[in-house]
Amino acid sequence: MIYLDNSATTFPKPQGVRQTMHRALVEYGANPGRSGYGMCLRTTQAVYDCRKLAADFFGAPGPECVLFQPSCTQALNLVLKGALKPGDHVVVSDLEHNAVMRPLTALENRGITYTVAKVTPGDNDATLEAFRQAFGPKTRLVVCTMASNVFGIRVPVERITALAHQYGVKVCVDAAQGAGLIPIRMGESGIDYLCCAGHKGLYGPMGTGLLILREPEELLGTLVEGGTGTQSRDLHQPEEAPERYESGTLNVPGILGLGAGIEFVRRRGPKRICREELQKLRYLHSRLSRMGKVRLYTPSPEEPWFVPVLSFNLEGVPSERVGEFLAKGGIAVRCGLHCAPLAHEKLGTLETGTVRVSPSVFTRKEDMDALVLRISHWKE
Ligand code: ALA
Repeated sequence: MIYLDNSATTFPKPQGVRQTMHRALVEYGANPGRSGYGMCLRTTQAVYDCRKLAADFFGAPGPECVLFQPSCTQALNLVLKGALKPGDHVVVSDLEHNAVMRPLTALENRGITYTVAKVTPGDNDATLEAFRQAFGPKTRLVVCTMASNVFGIRVPVERITALAHQYGVKVCVDAAQGAGLIPIRMGESGIDYLCCAGHKGLYGPMGTGLLILREPEELLGTLVEGGTGTQSRDLHQPEEAPERYESGTLNVPGILGLGAGIEFVRRRGPKRICREELQKLRYLHSRLSRMGKVRLYTPSPEEPWFVPVLSFNLEGVPSERVGEFLAKGGIAVRCGLHCAPLAHEKLGTLETGTVRVSPSVFTRKEDMDALVLRISHWKE
């Protein structure tokens, strides 16, 4: 199989991730932070080391800023439901995933409103102005994706953060498609809440995610309460991060696997990974653009405007049929709608969906050739 669905989840996982997860089950099998015997202490230390690694990788002030979460979606829900109060107003971009839009829409029942600001690809000043105009007296939070999971369009999150802070507004970034490809330094960027998927560009396993806080002493409401292994006499949820937000037994094999994934990315460097993948997608873009039947939605993906995600369609053909045709030829892509209706509406693909190609470090130029060859054999 030629796997080109890495924006959904990276596959294969690096050998170090697979080995670490196996070792976690064999050597780090105790419940961390709950007891004082040898294996428990070793497991606690291993989890702490991953927390520290993630904090260093994202330039967070300290390991207590890193909250292990089961997914990026859960991290986003925690910020939205934990930080917002009735009457608050939120600004989002027009590229957001349902991981943002659905909780936000659910929060309308609690008197929370939102405005959608338009991202103008290739013109960050215009994007900034759209965000500025969306701010109002009740705006408390900006939630914005680092890059579209459908079209790869990047959003100038650092400039948006600087603007938002001028208005006293906090910023939550959905880095599901950015982490591991775009270098992120929490301290310098000023991002208040960074939400990451562990299983995409960070090469960890599914079922892992991160919420990184700039100010861990801020008290967010909780989604889940329960045992933390700390202050156990108290029936109230502890106030200290990270325990406050991590009740229940942690996913130790997942967390250790994620740590190995981050280490894999750290050694290669996100910038280099992004550059090499973009190069392959530019090659694909140029070949597809010469095929009469192919409809591309974005220009050739250049830095700094894109992450390596490319959508296309065959004129008049539902994207699902193309996906099926590619699957029969041993090529795995995602097609249809990609849980991001705003982005599809923006580029006019809400009815058709798109065929989406997303490479990883393991993708070769030959895989792009195989995709083009298969498309050239398309028959109604
Ligand atoms: N959000 C993931 C994707 O874009 C699942 O495919």
